[in-house]
Amino acid sequence: KKRIAVMTSGGDAPGMCAAVRAVVRAGIYLGCEVYGCYEGYSGLVKGGEYLKKMDWEDVRGWLSLGGTLIGTARCMEFKEKWGRLQAAKNMILRGVDALIVCGGDGSLTGADIFRDEWPSLVAELVKNGTFTDEQVEPYKHLTIVGLVGSIDNDMSSTDNTIGAYSSLERICEMVDYIDATAASHSRAFVVEVMGRHCGWLALMAGTACGADSIFIPERPPSSKSWKDELKEICLRHRSKGRRKTTVIVAEGALDDELNPITSEQVKECLVEIGLDTRITTLGHVQRGGTAVAFDRLLATLQGVDAVKAVLESTPDTPSPMIGFVDNKVVRRPLIESVKLTKSVATAINEKRFDDAMKLRDTTFKE
Ligand code: F6P
Repeated sequence: KKRIAVMTSGGDAPGMCAAVRAVVRAGIYLGCEVYGCYEGYSGLVKGGEYLKKMDWEDVRGWLSLGGTLIGTARCMEFKEKWGRLQAAKNMILRGVDALIVCGGDGSLTGADIFRDEWPSLVAELVKNGTFTDEQVEPYKHLTIVGLVGSIDNDMSSTDNTIGAYSSLERICEMVDYIDATAASHSRAFVVEVMGRHCGWLALMAGTACGADSIFIPERPPSSKSWKDELKEICLRHRSKGRRKTTVIVAEGALDDELNPITSEQVKECLVEIGLDTRITTLGHVQRGGTAVAFDRLLATLQGVDAVKAVLESTPDTPSPMIGFVDNKVVRRPLIESVKLTKSVATAINEKRFDDAMKLRDTTFKE
């Protein structure tokens, strides 16, 4: 029986539990044994109880849950060669040679490096006497499949990452709450949202909530004029009878000289035009709560495809990343997608902002 391990890694995202559930059940349905790797890559490094066989019933009720019930971590040991050697040993001890990772670009890059290194790790485990040639014979090749779980929606080659729409929903709920009090007092609110270096959450939330203005890294305003423009826009909206002002700032917002645009700076502008202004930094509530229907479906469809991708993989196929493009589940070469994602950061650093916007993904197109 093929043995597959599934893990969640990096920041948690609603829908990760649904993804694990789908992998476990599709795996069992297709004749495999599935192991849950607890606490992300540290579970691989620790082995033993951290690599636990999962049955159909173990994931009952997981479809809608937020967070990840198999835990996640940002693991330093796996970045070291000894950590990966330990991980390879623990996998072979469990008879596992396929790994489905649900995480962001950093976690998926780590997985692909592990796959490239796998033959040399196995050879080393033979050389140092941990295993014999016969014992490692069935484990000559490691299969890696990536599922993108992140609230940031920052991965290129896929329209959506698992968790992004749940987070967007949470942000919109919060902005709606804020709107009620803002309008009551005729106040201005600067709402800072997550997304790391990606402006997707801010852009979508600002559009869905009818914000007066939105600041994102991929479409930076002029360093010389953004403050005056912001003031002019907000005053114009007020002059038309609007009783509240809402400005959404992505945590990674920049101006066109790559200076950060902070919530404090935005607040100062609003105070200067006479608005009673508060800042709300939404923080980790954006990652909490149950998964919205879209993320449950996305995670389920992708989890099933990840198992199929494991079963269809050969040593010559590049590790796939399961994505979602134009409402279809697609497989993309993992490493190409990671490269494309990194090229967005390069484009921003080189001030090629139009390229950055296009490279993000199709939902970002103007
Ligand atoms: O990548 C997900 C994310 O929530 C980002 O939006 C945010 O910048 C970061 O993780 C926060 O990380 P931590 O939970 O480690 O504070």
